[in-house]
Amino acid sequence: MLRRPKVSIVGAGNVGATAAHWIAAKELADVVLVDVAEGIPQGKALDLMQAGPVEDFDVRVTGSNDYAPTENSDVVVITAGLPRKPGMSRDDLLKTNANIVTQVTQQVCKYSPNGILVVVSNPLDAMAYVAKKVSGFPRNRVIGMAGVLDSARFCTFVAEAAGVSVEDVHGFVYGGHGDTMVPMTRYCSISGVPLEKFLSPEKISAIVERTKNGGAEIVNYLKTGSAYYAPSAATVQMVEAIIKDKKRVLPCAVWLEGEYGLKNLFVGVLAKLGANGMEKVIELDLNDTEKNNLKKSAESVQGLMNVLEGKV
Ligand code: LAC
Repeated sequence: MLRRPKVSIVGAGNVGATAAHWIAAKELADVVLVDVAEGIPQGKALDLMQAGPVEDFDVRVTGSNDYAPTENSDVVVITAGLPRKPGMSRDDLLKTNANIVTQVTQQVCKYSPNGILVVVSNPLDAMAYVAKKVSGFPRNRVIGMAGVLDSARFCTFVAEAAGVSVEDVHGFVYGGHGDTMVPMTRYCSISGVPLEKFLSPEKISAIVERTKNGGAEIVNYLKTGSAYYAPSAATVQMVEAIIKDKKRVLPCAVWLEGEYGLKNLFVGVLAKLGANGMEKVIELDLNDTEKNNLKKSAESVQGLMNVLEGKV
């Protein structure tokens, strides 16, 4: 029997609720919002569903404090955890969010043993590792969201600096979702034309630095929380690629098994997303600088994993 795709979102905070908003507005799937805060997922879900008659979308959005309604989800987005506050690095959140993501993943797997997990909680690459370890899912079904967001920030800054439409800017960011991320400037183009035809090396370096601090720049403005419009939009682009089996090639945090000379950790690289989740890691030829930067970024992710495993 045909049925509408079902996406559950754990965490009805700003990122989770705004992801639900994009999914409903695009009429992609029925959505179940789950949160421990009593009334919040129910209230936000009902409110969002009541926008349907105005915006002409026809999906069910429900909220719950327990996981039973998430049963048989096609995709489960995990946003649960504390957000960053000013002065806090993503890594400061490590242990608290590891406990939260562990409990969430146990519940999610119980009800959706065949679901695909999209992890959004920070520190991203380490939380994707926690979800993979706790779920025992194969790597195609545990994917971290970070590269699409970091790339979107990079492309926004490039478009602004070059004075061109964001629609014509293509670029992607590799590495962990942290200060060591690696914007792949050599592969960035404006309608296929290399970036250096439009911007000086100094301008490009400034954009790389601003991209690395893209999350912190927003935390510093908001003070009480972190970014959510772009993070949720990035998450939904991945969800859409999966539920529509689009085979999109997007930068995602992926469990590497030897690609790029790295293994047994999550780090951001280009991957193909379709109905089976992460269907293929795309391997690019990297030059020595890029290889080195990616390796350094992977080492910082490994450092967090070591803390979680009690190795340091
Ligand atoms: C950011 C946080 C969510 O990059 O990591 O905005």
